[in-house]
Amino acid sequence: MGGAVGPYLRVAADLPRASAALAAHVAERARASAAARGRFRLVVSGGSTPVPLYRRLAARYRGSFPWARTEVYFGDERCVGPRHPESNYAMVAAALLERVPVPRHQVHRIRGELRPPARGAADYARWLVPLAEGSKEGPLFDLVLLGIGTDGHTASLFPGSAALDERRRTVVSVPAPERPPPVPRITLTLPALARSREVCFLVAGPDKADAVAAILGGRGGSRVALPAARVRSQGPVRWYLDRGAAAGLSAARRRELDTGPEA
Ligand code: 6PG
Repeated sequence: MGGAVGPYLRVAADLPRASAALAAHVAERARASAAARGRFRLVVSGGSTPVPLYRRLAARYRGSFPWARTEVYFGDERCVGPRHPESNYAMVAAALLERVPVPRHQVHRIRGELRPPARGAADYARWLVPLAEGSKEGPLFDLVLLGIGTDGHTASLFPGSAALDERRRTVVSVPAPERPPPVPRITLTLPALARSREVCFLVAGPDKADAVAAILGGRGGSRVALPAARVRSQGPVRWYLDRGAAAGLSAARRRELDTGPEA
């Protein structure tokens, strides 16, 4: 479970509390990164779960977060325009980017409107090249935020997808999944996600308890190599859950995961 110190698992009573705990952690990592390296490269996730987190960062940390040194990247995007209701960029802009003073040129949007989608993937991959700073192994990102679906997907890496086997490219396009919205996607690949100093999952709701248990090890201890279980980092992989999403984890497994106090 990563290299740095735990806790790797924080369980909160509900999503607002899990979001508050994660927001405090992201703010602390941002300040440390800006102090150590002069910048904080954050990958944001889409969907609906992170909306309270983004709103919390905008409200509670507007003045203390190093926004001027923050660079925002996206873990994935639906192949729609930036104002489309299904756009991850539109969601993050409304919940966070329009509420904080992050310089616009430091927000790196995936251009989901480009056609074909593979062109949008290649366009985004070019943004990531300079992050490598000539290193083939070093981290591209300081902190990656991710969610999971009920099927254990993360970003737009869906079970059975060929994108899960990508070893070279950092960004790929994937066909429309069978789940809404039924549009092609552009996603960071597992090698790109792994080039991070830390990954933090935020998961809420009892409908995800089975996927969380399959990924982290449920009562039977059995684990399934769902896409989110294959995410690696050069540092810790942390999980911020509400009680509903954690319901399938045994007490023993929670202890093994170095769970911090309930948030
Ligand atoms: C997306 C996200 C996706 C999301 C999960 C969970 O584009 O939808 O990147 O990976 O994190 O599907 O979505 P919810 O938070 O809406 O349950």
